[in-house]
This record gives sequence, structure tokens and C-alpha cells, in this order.
Amino acid sequence: MESHKKLVIGLFGFGVVGEGLYKILQQTPSLHASIKKACIKHPGKKRNAPESLFTQNGDDLLNDPEINVIVEVIDDADAAFKIISTALKNGKAVVSASKKMIAEHLREILDLQKETGMPFLCESAACASIPVIRNLEEYYDNDLLHSLKAIVNGSTNFILTKMFEDKLNFTDALILAQQLGFAESNPKLDVEGYDAVNKWTILLNHAYGIVTDISKILFTGIQNITLNDAEVAQSRHYDIKLVANAKKLSTGKVAAFVLPHFVTLDDQLAFVKNEYNGVVIESGFADKQFFYGKGAGSLPTGSAVLSDISALRYGYKYEY
Ligand code: HSE
Repeated sequence: MESHKKLVIGLFGFGVVGEGLYKILQQTPSLHASIKKACIKHPGKKRNAPESLFTQNGDDLLNDPEINVIVEVIDDADAAFKIISTALKNGKAVVSASKKMIAEHLREILDLQKETGMPFLCESAACASIPVIRNLEEYYDNDLLHSLKAIVNGSTNFILTKMFEDKLNFTDALILAQQLGFAESNPKLDVEGYDAVNKWTILLNHAYGIVTDISKILFTGIQNITLNDAEVAQSRHYDIKLVANAKKLSTGKVAAFVLPHFVTLDDQLAFVKNEYNGVVIESGFADKQFFYGKGAGSLPTGSAVLSDISALRYGYKYEY
């Protein structure tokens, strides 16, 4: 995309992330990027934007020649894949936050990107405000990446923090995570580890190339952790975290899983509280690095979408 060109955005979804992006773009005029139309499913809802911005017809966006960027931040993975495929085929750059859709369609997205020559970026799909995808893509040599461990789901980390620090029970902590806009509309996706394994699939894809099929990652969530477990762990000077892990084996294969872990209090991941995420990367020569930042929420996630929009200006694409 030419660097001087105005970015005219067609936005699919105006929920927590879509609205966050809308607010951010209003405060960043120097980016010369604005939302021309936003496609929504439920027109009756009260939204903090003029009615004229909205349509229910996705074709209004996908077939508008002036729109050169499609930002897709909807919940439904099947619908999201249709949208991003059509957008790329119609010659539009795409930015997406749909982790389930991306995790399930990695290969097809890669093929579409190659076939159409259009960029597909998804920094917001894992660890929200932490620029970890671009770092995995650009900074590290795949062969030198020894291991990664991370907290990639903000809601479960928030729930565990509230159980440990405020003695809140699981259900009350989950309700709070929902009220704050961290949880998925179906919170089972967070609690049972589905969201984390989707994000882990995406991150490992960017870390190691397409070596990780989602079905090969063993995972479970925090659904069975009780306030009593938290108290016992605490009495023994441990924290409990939902940890995503990956290790490169001597065979060259990558062993990966997402499971609740006891974490010692001096572990970097013990430092990650509430809706924050953290990623610890061990690699040859660089040794150990720790990335930390907000992993959920309207503006932190919107900021990652914004960084992708901005990266389109200088023609950034994942090489895989
Ligand atoms: N439900 C997700 C989380 C939102 O809690 O991490 C951000 O992807």
C-alpha cells in the first residue's frame, strides 16, 4: 500500500474491540485512517457513534472501491473467514482479531495472502497490546527459538488473580471479567482454555512456521480450580496460572500444551496479574526475554489493531 494513501476502513463488528478502535482512530488524526462504514448485526443497540456509520449489509463494505482496508473483529469464526476471504480476493488489505477463525484457517489464509498479494495482519489476535506476533516474525530466527511460555488469556488470569488476591469465588470473578469486557461472549471459551489454545496456535505459527496443528496441542482451562486450591497453593508459596508452553525438541518438532500450572513466586509469569498477559521467550544468544502488557480490553486490543493498520502503510506482510 502506498505510504501517502488515505486508509479507508470498512469495519466488521462494533463490540468491545470495534468500538475501542473507533475511539482510538478519533484521537489519532495524523494516521489519516478513518472508518467509512461499520457492519453490525444488531441495529437496535445504543452505540457511541453516528447512526450513518452503520450498515447491516457486508457487501456495502466488501464491494466499495474506496474502502482499501477491511478490519474484521466479529465473534463468529465461519462468518469471519468468509469476510476476510472475500476482502482479500477483492484486493483489500485485511486486519483481523478473530483468533478462533485464524487458528482454524492458518493454511488457507496463507494461501489467500499468496494468491491475492494482499496483506493479512492479526497482531490483536494474541496477547492484545503486546507486539509479540511481529517480534516473533521479525526478530527471532526460528531455529534459535528454544522455548516459549506465556499467559495468553486475560480473563482466566483475571479470575485467578481475583481468587488469589481478593478471595473472590470463581463465579463472581468471572462475572467481573465479563462486566469489564475481557471475557468472550461465550465465557466457556476463556474458562475451558479454547481461547488460549487458539492464541497459542497463532503464536507458534509465527514463531516456528506452520508446524502446529491446533488439534495437536493438549489443553485444558481453569474450570476445575477452586478457591480452596488457590488457598492451598498460596500457603505453599505458589501461584496458579494458565500457562501456554512450547519447547523445541532435538528432533526439530515442537511440543506444546496449555495447562494450569503451579508457578513459583519468582517466576516472571507470577508477576502477570489481572487481565495482563506475559510471554517469556528463550532463544539462542539472546537468552531470556519477557514481554508484558494488557491482554484484553477495548483500548489495549484496539491499539494492536491500530498498529496493524499503521503497518499497512509501509507494506508490512507476514512472510511465514
Ligand atoms: N477473552 C479474551 C481474553 C479477550 O480474556 O484474553 C482477548 O483476546
